[in-house]
Amino acid sequence: MKTIAVISQKGGSGKTTIALHLAVAATEAGLATAVVDLDPQASATKWGDTREQPPDVVSAQAERLQEMLDAARDNGADLVVVDTAPNADRASLLAMRAADLILIPCRPARFDLEAIAATLELSEIARKEPFVVLSCAPVRSALVGEASSDLEGRGARIAPVVIHQRVAYSHAVIDGRTATEFEPEGKAAEEAWDLLMWACGRVGLSARRPVGTVGGDDE
Ligand SMILES: Nc1ncnc2c1ncn2[C@@H]1O[C@H](COP(=O)(O)OP(=O)(O)OP(=O)(O)O)[C@@H](O)[C@H]1O
Ligand SMILES: [Mg+2]
Repeated sequence: MKTIAVISQKGGSGKTTIALHLAVAATEAGLATAVVDLDPQASATKWGDTREQPPDVVSAQAERLQEMLDAARDNGADLVVVDTAPNADRASLLAMRAADLILIPCRPARFDLEAIAATLELSEIARKEPFVVLSCAPVRSALVGEASSDLEGRGARIAPVVIHQRVAYSHAVIDGRTATEFEPEGKAAEEAWDLLMWACGRVGLSARRPVGTVGGDDE
């Protein structure tokens, strides 16, 4: 079983959106997947309450994360995606320590780039090397390139998949879906798939991209 933690001390950076899109795509890819929601706001858990299909979403306190992960492993999970709260040092640290892959969503915007230092410092304390995922990025803008250079200049690693600002991400979650379910042929779905396939490669999970999705086996 592998654990991917989506962490950022900055609020509204796209953590929950990315966590849920990864988890649904993983389920569609044939991986037994669960989401652990460490955020007391419980956005991911409430999203899970509005759907019947997997992945299961469970709310937990960070101090019990290891027990939750052990239970998921005992139940045959292949992948657990951990969604976290902003401004939660201790919880973020525990999630980082438990993770095989740490993703730090960051909007390519000045205040977000400034704020990311706090999360990168936490990862140093956890002795883990995270990947920054540029999130909510405007389409066709120089901002992505500028943000990437800024982050690389500070020694951060950047995931090769950019999550752009697309209505499908926010629209799909309204009724408990994600973009791969809401608009499977759309660009948001394609990005979610690309991010999942890359993340699975990083942690050594073999995921099957279903035939018919963009970039799938039929292409
Ligand atoms: N790629 C995207 N395109 C369009 N809208 C997005 C995208 N990512 C996130 N959003 C929207 O931005 C807002 C914040 O996103 P989200 O809740 O995922 O961030 P978060 O980091 O989990 O926030 P918090 O820190 O409060 O937990 C939401 O309204 C969400 O629908
Ligand atoms: Mg959130």
